[in-house]
Amino acid sequence: MAKRMKIKKQAMQSLIIIGVIIFIVIFGLAFGINKYKEYKYKQTYEYKLIEHGYDLDVAKEFLKYFKEDEEIEKVLSLPRNELILNLAKEKYYIYNNLDRYLAYQEKNKDKELKDIVAIVNVNRDYEFYEHDIDTDTSEGNLLMVNKYYKLNSDFEPSSLVTINSQYAYADNQITEEANDAYVSMWHAAKEADIQLIVNSSYRNYQDQEDVYKSLKQSKGEREADKVAARPGYSEHQSGLAIDVFEIHNQLTGTFQDSPAYAWLKENAYKYGFIERYPQDKEYLTGYSAESWHWRYVGLEAAKVVHDEEITYDEYYAYYIANK
Ligand code: DAL
Ligand code: ZN
Repeated sequence: MAKRMKIKKQAMQSLIIIGVIIFIVIFGLAFGINKYKEYKYKQTYEYKLIEHGYDLDVAKEFLKYFKEDEEIEKVLSLPRNELILNLAKEKYYIYNNLDRYLAYQEKNKDKELKDIVAIVNVNRDYEFYEHDIDTDTSEGNLLMVNKYYKLNSDFEPSSLVTINSQYAYADNQITEEANDAYVSMWHAAKEADIQLIVNSSYRNYQDQEDVYKSLKQSKGEREADKVAARPGYSEHQSGLAIDVFEIHNQLTGTFQDSPAYAWLKENAYKYGFIERYPQDKEYLTGYSAESWHWRYVGLEAAKVVHDEEITYDEYYAYYIANK
């Protein structure tokens, strides 16, 4: 009897020990898993952003807009600033320009973020003619020439043709592809009783120097710079630009009020042309509005520029240089 009691007691003790061991193992495991999870969470960018001072919902938004590790590391390297997130939400935000957006905003606190993004994207945070970039002419129809992007003095487009005298004044040349597009556009405009006429197109470096110099002499540098490019900085040298009027509306002062201009605004993109220096965009293009200056960029780019109502400078920065 005593022996059986002893065995029962021993079995009970063993059970308790096993129970305790199981308890310790389960508890230890749960504790360990928890600690591991905590350790893993601390490695996440969500945690690091919160540690950096952002609220959880803001941290989550950052992760939506900043997808690459390098981008988040950049955010973490900058002082806490929710402006960074708001900049990234802008449609044409470019990651590589972040420091410049912030520097420009610091000096222009009244400006809207949309404008800051546009201004910096087109390099307008640098002075005109003080930040030269060589134009990449291999980009063909999409190449950029403005007060930052410069063509070599000896650059000549490879496929210039003379525009037929039915469509232009004498000795006007543009690239073959731009000419084909212009001729198609000319006939479409004619259907609408509009007779287009090109009065200036390709100008080589020397021609542009003459144009600019003469304007500088008559108006002074400041005024000349609003209407003419310095040599090397004119897209007329690219063979992709035309100054186009209508046979009955050939004055720069009034062309913007003509039916021909209204027609071009609505239709030119269908032929690959865009208005290069629109009204109210002088702060981006550097030129007063030129309702007569149209640039060939090809169908795809022209449609985007037209539909999104952006300047070609903005288009180029976001869709070409940014890739
Ligand atoms: N008038 C334009 C800006 C040029 O000279 O190229
Ligand atoms: Zn022009």
